Amino acid sequence: MAGSEIKNSKIREIINIFKCPICGENMNMSGDKSILCINKHNYDLSKRGYVNLLLRSFKTDYSKDMFTSRNIISKTCFFKPMIEFISNIIIDMAQDKKFNLLKVLDVGSGEGSHLAQIINTINERTSINVLGVGIDISKDGIQIASKNHPGIIWCVADLTRIPFIDKQFHVVLSILSPANNSEFNRIINDNGIIIKVVPGSGYLEELRRIFFDKTNKLTYSNENIIKHFGSNFNIIDIRRLFYKVRVSEDNFKHLIKMTPLSWGATSDQIYHALNSGINHVTVDLFVITGKVHVKKP
Ligand SMILES: C[S@@+](CC[C@H](N)C(=O)[O-])C[C@H]1O[C@@H](n2cnc3c(N)ncnc32)[C@H](O)[C@@H]1O
Repeated sequence: MAGSEIKNSKIREIINIFKCPICGENMNMSGDKSILCINKHNYDLSKRGYVNLLLRSFKTDYSKDMFTSRNIISKTCFFKPMIEFISNIIIDMAQDKKFNLLKVLDVGSGEGSHLAQIINTINERTSINVLGVGIDISKDGIQIASKNHPGIIWCVADLTRIPFIDKQFHVVLSILSPANNSEFNRIINDNGIIIKVVPGSGYLEELRRIFFDKTNKLTYSNENIIKHFGSNFNIIDIRRLFYKVRVSEDNFKHLIKMTPLSWGATSDQIYHALNSGINHVTVDLFVITGKVHVKKP
């Protein structure tokens, strides 16, 4: 079998959980090159094995450079405590519930490192049969993800029209990405969990101080996001992960590139940041775990 066929065979195995993001109908394979719904909405499978479920490309602020830098930072210990913590939550939950195939969906998966590291951790530590699926609106992000992690199913897709049928996923991850709680509620299994990661007030405060000095963005609160999440899901746990990470001069450049905090920064501010001598940064993340409100019949 050629490389792309091997990759696409994974999609073939779970084609029955896809749904057309345009008309909502079921999907089927159409040869090895695309997937198709009964209303003939057709979506290309790339040679790298990802599927593009957008009919037009969206222009986003998330550039290829940003994903490359996120990828470099994700290979350091920057997100390691978060990966450990999330993997352990999933392992505990899956060992308790004993699913035949644990399906984990990462929504807004970016360049894919977090999902890949979580799936690897589960595979290394348990015999749980796990399937990882990542979706992101950015083709650049999904291209990097599918190149680096062919064992996972990657889709270019919009989280406001998630291309899967109802109640399919046992774990839905939303890590530092936008959310659509009604879609999350629709796709999550009644026994499933949703894990949302949001920054805390201290997250990259060293950069915030430089880029947002004397503005109302100098401080940040995640209170409203947590409140909103709580009105959609039963919150079963909130854990704050707060630590400092040492960064090399080179990685500090990637940190600046990888974060939306630098989007409005002037070249003077970037210059100031690069010459500030900062060699430690603060990581402050809230990991919120929720369950669906199951409606009584
Ligand atoms: C800050 S990045 C986080 C990416 C990844 N979760 C991580 O932590 O590295 C936010 C991600 O959300 C994605 N995103 C934004 N709007 C989206 C949408 N409507 N549908 C799917 N993904 C979206 C972006 O393309 C980007 O990859």
